[in-house]
Amino acid sequence: MNKKGKYKQLLEFAKQAAENSYSPYSKFKVGAAVLCEDNKVFCGTNVENASYGLSICAERTAIFTAVSNGCKKIKAIAIYNKKGSVSPCGACRQVIIEFAKDADVIYNTKKDNIKIIKMAKLLPNSFNLD
Ligand code: THU
Repeated sequence: MNKKGKYKQLLEFAKQAAENSYSPYSKFKVGAAVLCEDNKVFCGTNVENASYGLSICAERTAIFTAVSNGCKKIKAIAIYNKKGSVSPCGACRQVIIEFAKDADVIYNTKKDNIKIIKMAKLLPNSFNLD
């Protein structure tokens, strides 16, 4: 399968994950799916809390799940919201780039096309300890 085909599949996983979103406060369901170096896929969704600041985005849930399962190199991350493109928030960008410097970020458009952008473009000159 070509890259775009693989990424469409990854976005499909993200879409499924969005179904599990716990977002009673924002009512904004987000799903994320991470493609690891060994081609394993891990998903995550946003999980909100009555104490709003404790909520976590879908991207971070997916990344932390991947890392918890032994994957520390990420090739791509797909993000889905049914209303259209969700570009990762600033906090998530910093978390994603820790494990995914050369990764592609994939998201859907309103019309369910896919957009692909390099992580390095989303967070140039990111903080690191090198
Ligand atoms: N959210 C994500 O899950 N990912 C993003 O990149 C942006 C925002 C979530 C957080 C909150 O649960 C809801 O979307 C509305 O901000």
